[in-house]
Amino acid sequence: MQLAILGTGAVGRALGMAFSSAGHDVVIGTRDPERTRQREEWAGIDLVLAAYEDLDGDVFINATDGRGSLPALEAVGDALDGKVVIDTSNALDFSQGFPPSLFISNTDSLAEQLQREFPEVRLVKMFNTMNNTVMVNPQGLGDDSTIFVAGNDPAARQAAASLAADLGWTDVFDLGDLTAARGLEMYLPLWVRIFSLLGRPDFNIKVVR
Ligand SMILES: NC(=O)c1ccc[n+]([C@@H]2O[C@H](COP(=O)([O-])OP(=O)(O)OC[C@H]3O[C@@H](n4cnc5c(N)ncnc54)[C@H](OP(=O)(O)O)[C@@H]3O)[C@@H](O)[C@H]2O)c1
Repeated sequence: MQLAILGTGAVGRALGMAFSSAGHDVVIGTRDPERTRQREEWAGIDLVLAAYEDLDGDVFINATDGRGSLPALEAVGDALDGKVVIDTSNALDFSQGFPPSLFISNTDSLAEQLQREFPEVRLVKMFNTMNNTVMVNPQGLGDDSTIFVAGNDPAARQAAASLAADLGWTDVFDLGDLTAARGLEMYLPLWVRIFSLLGRPDFNIKVVR
């Protein structure tokens, strides 16, 4: 499958390398491929980089900064129409320092805002509730844990769940329509508190049921 990942940060790099190792064709979107290629953290990474405008794929993954997600998707444009877009982003506001607050909450979510702006997109919220190291190596925690999917299109949720399974996820919890993204994004303050107490990001939650 051709996967187009928007985002060159830790999530874009981790998912890009993991899906590439799992046999998918991966291209990573960025504002300026030449400049990104020269960044220190991209040294030795053998993934194809392209400008957002030139991205295409069977499935897109949004791994951009929450405030940059709308402009990034706008730059991709019509190539998104009808496609599954997996949204990993969080609405984190670091303007007042650490811990961050959320710039969208309660009766709305970043994922729903993106879906409203791009009604032709089949948006699925997934991967936003764990660190990138856990996204690509769920077994690394030792115990099975849970990954959530939410989105308005059941077939799109299934497609996202199947991609999660390619990375080793066995407990994919389908939360239904995209209003569930509110809870997935509002989990972040708790994630940040647990991270601060443990002093490391490699943990996850499990829904015991
Ligand atoms: N880090 C994690 O482990 C983790 C875990 C779960 C969820 N998340 C969420 O996943 C997303 C990605 O996180 P990250 O840590 O990998 O990277 P990040 O630093 O949050 O985002 C980096 C990416 O955002 C793009 N970007 C920033 N502002 C932009 C704008 N105005 N227009 C277009 N693109 C813009 C950058 O583009 P350029 O390439 O052009 O610089 C870059 O590709 C975030 O929303 C984050 O909250 C992160």
